[in-house]
Amino acid sequence: MRLVGKVAIITGAGSGMGKAMAEVFVREGAKVVLADISGEQDAVAMPLRDAAVAVHCDVADEDQVQALIATAENRFGRLDILCNNAGFGGGMAPLAEQTSEHWDRVHAVNIRGVFLGMKYGILSMLKTGGGAIVNTGSASAVIGWKGHGVYGAAKAGVHQMTRVAALDYAKAGIRVNAIAPGTMWTGLVPQSKEVSEPPAGGWRLPGIPMDRWGTSTDIANAALFLASDEAAYITGVILPVDGGYCIGFSGMGAEHSGAPDPAG
Ligand SMILES: NC(=O)c1ccc[n+]([C@@H]2O[C@H](COP(=O)([O-])OP(=O)(O)OC[C@H]3O[C@@H](n4cnc5c(N)ncnc54)[C@H](O)[C@@H]3O)[C@@H](O)[C@H]2O)c1
Repeated sequence: MRLVGKVAIITGAGSGMGKAMAEVFVREGAKVVLADISGEQDAVAMPLRDAAVAVHCDVADEDQVQALIATAENRFGRLDILCNNAGFGGGMAPLAEQTSEHWDRVHAVNIRGVFLGMKYGILSMLKTGGGAIVNTGSASAVIGWKGHGVYGAAKAGVHQMTRVAALDYAKAGIRVNAIAPGTMWTGLVPQSKEVSEPPAGGWRLPGIPMDRWGTSTDIANAALFLASDEAAYITGVILPVDGGYCIGFSGMGAEHSGAPDPAG
């Protein structure tokens, strides 16, 4: 029960990592507000009963993000933890083949959405004396993945906003950290819609030192630690959760011998 008495908002909570964060946070005693654009957040919230409220929210929309923060304050009295996790990759391709429309939407969700969440989340946390923010970045912003120029640029911006916000609000008691997931078996991997677990022996990832896909639970456990008081002296960190991928990067880029593209 490491989050007893805490109130958390999790975006992108209808699927994958955000759904796992919701389940782990409630298990640890938190009240959670689950935001998503998909509608799936309702089904995630239902078994969590009184500990969860589901909100339809496009994180790129300023009014909707303000309303999301207000929901935490009105329903549970405060905001202690904010996980800016909603995101998507879309079609990965060499840079000159990308459209400006694709750039605009990827950046609207992946970086504007995190900016808006942090802006209004921080304003709320300042009223109660502090809190913890956990942003979801990406290994593709730590190293280069072929075809990930647009998405990787947005996620690199998330990493840098994380570091700077950590400095801006360190004295105010707000810790700001990010997780950089590697290659995770979530809704972003098209094949995961059909198979909930990566097939044993199939779609191996030769670039991953641990030789397996990551899971949503791997990410939720890292978010739990960064959100909890156990991480009280940790801020401005970009924590890779990637089976050793970034540290052992061999220069293969995203071309994992036939593996599905990690970002869809
Ligand atoms: N899966 C990977 O390999 C991987 C790797 C690195 C980073 N990430 C990042 O992890 C985060 C979680 O993704 P996931 O892998 O769990 O994928 P997912 O598709 O399972 O979950 C992402 C959720 O975000 C929601 N979402 C998308 N746009 C939104 C918007 N505008 N407003 C609100 N919600 C929105 C989706 O509806 C979905 O429920 C994302 O930020 C993603 O970019 C994923």
